[in-house]
Amino acid sequence: MSEADRKLIDSALNVLKQSYSPYSKFRVGAALRTTNGEIFDGCNVENVSYGLTICAERNAVFKMVSFGERKLESIAVVTDSESIVTPCGACRQVIREFADDDCRIICASPNEVRVFALNQLLPFSFKPSDLT
Ligand code: THU
Repeated sequence: MSEADRKLIDSALNVLKQSYSPYSKFRVGAALRTTNGEIFDGCNVENVSYGLTICAERNAVFKMVSFGERKLESIAVVTDSESIVTPCGACRQVIREFADDDCRIICASPNEVRVFALNQLLPFSFKPSDLT
């Protein structure tokens, strides 16, 4: 694994500790690298009204946007569960808003690391350029 990917996974692992997940007890951390080389992270934050839960990936993307960045080149999603998880459908679409088809999605658990391209996880996507 490249040093850059390792660093992203480590950042995601670090923010996973902040996960607020009293209902599912499923902790997730995400860290993304922008095309400018900056890193933004986020954890999942649950709510007693379950539907208001926000995933780690969307938290990281919204943080990136709040800091004025608009493009990500890779995002790591880390859990401490047995196997990896890939971003949910909503997160895939939110990532697509700010990423190209080849954006790298690095999914890591203690036992496994897999790297996908965004268009593998969200083929034939609806994207901003479709409206222009
Ligand atoms: N979750 C994420 O944060 N990211 C994913 O990729 C999968 C699911 C969160 C949402 C919820 O807090 C918990 O994991 C269980 O679904």
